[in-house]
Amino acid sequence: CGIVGYTGYRQAYGIVIDGLKKLEYRGYDSAGVALHKGEHVDVYKKTGKVVNLEEFVYGQDLQSTTGIGHTRWATHGEPSDRNAHPHYSNSGRIAMIHNGIIENYASLKSELINKGYHFKSDTDTEVLVNFIEEIQLQNECPLEEAIRIALKRVVGAYVILVLEAGHPDRIIAARKGSPLVIGIGKNEHFLGSDASPMLAYTKEVVYINDYELAIITPGELILKNLGNERITPYIQKLDLELSAIEKGGYDHFMLKEIFEQPDTIYDSMRGRLDLQAKQIILSGIEKYANEISNTNRIVIVACGTSWHAGLIAEYVIEELCRINVEVEYASEFRYRNPVIHPGDVILAISQSGETADTLVALENAKKQGAIILGVVNVVGSSIARLSDAGAYTHAGPEIGVASTKAFTAQLTVLNLIALKIAALKGTISDERFLKLSEELHDVPGKVQWILDTQIEKIQQIAKKYKDARDFLFLGRGYNFPVALEGALKLKEISYIHAEGYPAAEMKHGPIALVDENLPVVFVATKDAYHEKIVSNIQEIKARKGKIISVVTRGDAVSENLSDDFMEIPEADEVIAPLISVVPLQLLSYYIGVELGLDVDKPRNLAKSVTVE
Ligand code: G6P
Repeated sequence: CGIVGYTGYRQAYGIVIDGLKKLEYRGYDSAGVALHKGEHVDVYKKTGKVVNLEEFVYGQDLQSTTGIGHTRWATHGEPSDRNAHPHYSNSGRIAMIHNGIIENYASLKSELINKGYHFKSDTDTEVLVNFIEEIQLQNECPLEEAIRIALKRVVGAYVILVLEAGHPDRIIAARKGSPLVIGIGKNEHFLGSDASPMLAYTKEVVYINDYELAIITPGELILKNLGNERITPYIQKLDLELSAIEKGGYDHFMLKEIFEQPDTIYDSMRGRLDLQAKQIILSGIEKYANEISNTNRIVIVACGTSWHAGLIAEYVIEELCRINVEVEYASEFRYRNPVIHPGDVILAISQSGETADTLVALENAKKQGAIILGVVNVVGSSIARLSDAGAYTHAGPEIGVASTKAFTAQLTVLNLIALKIAALKGTISDERFLKLSEELHDVPGKVQWILDTQIEKIQQIAKKYKDARDFLFLGRGYNFPVALEGALKLKEISYIHAEGYPAAEMKHGPIALVDENLPVVFVATKDAYHEKIVSNIQEIKARKGKIISVVTRGDAVSENLSDDFMEIPEADEVIAPLISVVPLQLLSYYIGVELGLDVDKPRNLAKSVTVE
C-alpha cells in the first residue's frame, strides 16, 4: 500500500491525490483520502485506481490544509469501497490509514466486539483504529498516548497516519516494518511511503525508524520512541530529480525504464569499474571485503525478480570466487529455522529495500552473527540501513510494477562484487579479470544496439503470439535464470501462463505440454552449452512447438531452427544475462500492449510488498 499526508498552508487534497498517483505502483485496489475540517474529519474512498476516487469526489467541498491518503493492496478483505482506507473509529472522531498487517487483529477484534464495538469493514485497520479509541476512552488520555499504548500490544507491521477531530492541523504517524518518509518544508510537512510525493516541494527529508512515533503540525515535527522519549530527527538531503519519476514522452513507465537501461547499467558501474587501474572500487563493502572473501558460504536472500538476479549471481560467484553460494526465497528462509554460522555472509537483493520477507529474514540472520551485505536500489530504505555493508544499484526510481532496469542494475553490481572478491581471493586470472571487466564496460552499448535494431521485429513477434494461452521459456547455465525472468515478466504483464525451466530438465515434464499451439522461447545465445541447447530446440521442433529464440547475432544454426528470433550482440556467458534479458522484457511489454492491458499496473500486483 502507499500512504501520503500533508499539513501546512496549501490545499491538502491536490497534494495528497498527486502523491497517491506517484505511489500507485505500491497498490491500486482502492484509494481514499481523509481531510481535516476542524471539528470533524471527512473521508472519501472508492474501489479501483486513484482516478476513480477523483471522479467520485468531483464537485464536493475539498477545502482543507491537512489531509491523508491511501492507495491499497488488499490483504484483509476484498478490494471494495467499504474495505478502502481511511477507516473511522466507531465515534467517527478518529480516521486512520494503514500500510501493513496487524497479525493479532482477530483477538483484538473479539475483545472490542465484547465491549460493543461494531465493524463496517473486514480490515485489520478498522480493528486498530477502534482499539486506539477504546484505549483513549479508558485512559482519558491524549490520542498520542493511546496510540503508544495500542502499538505496544500490536503484533505485525504497520505505518499508520491518524487524524483526530478537534486537532485540525495535526497528523500522528507511527511505523514498524513499513516505510515512512517525512518531508520538511517551511511551515508545512509532507508524508509518504517514499519520497516521490514530496519531491516537487522539498528535498529535506527524515526517514522514520521502527518503533518511532511522529506528531506533525505545519510548524513542528516531534519525534518520539514508544517509551515517550524525544528523538532528534535526522534530516537528510534527497539526491533525486522530479524528472526521474515522470514518463518523459514514453507511453509507459515500463518502456521508459527498459530504454533507460544503457544509462542505468552504466550508472551502476560508474566510478566503480576502473579499467586502467584494473580494479573495482566498492567503497560500501571495503570494510568487510576480507570477511566476505574468507567466508565459507554466501546465502542470497531475495524475492521475485531480485531472486532471479540472485540465481545468476550464484553462477557468477561460484565460478569466479569459488565460494559456496545458496539462493533462498526470503519467505521460506525466514520461517525455516535455517542453519546460520557467525561469519556467514547473507547477501540481500532488493529493488525497494522494503520487502517485508527479505527484511525480516535479514534481521533474523543478523541476530545469529551473519554479515549482511545489501544490493539495494532505494537509498535509505530499511534493508539498506540494516545492512553491514553493501553497494547501491543506481537504477533510479523504478515505477513500472514489473521490474526491468532494477534487474539489470542488480546484475551489474553483483558482477562487480564477484569480480572484486575474486581478485582479492586470487581465484581469477589477470586476463579473465580484464576480459570480464571490459565486457561489463561494453554492456550499455550492446543493450543500446538491441533497442536500436530489434524493436520492430519484437513487436511483430508480440502480435503473432499474443493469443497463446501458455508459453514455455527455456535456457541453460547462466541463461536459465534469464528464462525464469522472461516467464515471470510475461505472466505479470500479459496474464498469459508462462513457465521457465532449465532447457534440459524440460524433458522431465513440460515436454508433455508441447504441441503446435505452444510457443517455446529459447534463450540460446552462444556459450559453452550452445550445442546442447540446439539439441533441445530440435526436441521441441520435432513435437511441432513454435520456436522463438534469443540468439547471438549471426548464429545461423539457431536462426534456421527458429520460427522467430531476436538477436543480441555477442557476450561472454558470465555477462550475457545482462543483455539476453532485454529482448524478453520487450516481448512481454509489447504482448501486454497488444492485449490492451495496463502494463505499468498489472492486476493484483504491487511493486513494494511490505506485507509477508
Ligand atoms: C514484488 C515486485 C517485483 C519484485 C519483488 C521483490 O513482487 O512486483 O517486481 O521483484 O516484489 O521486490 P524487491 O523490492 O525486494 O526487489
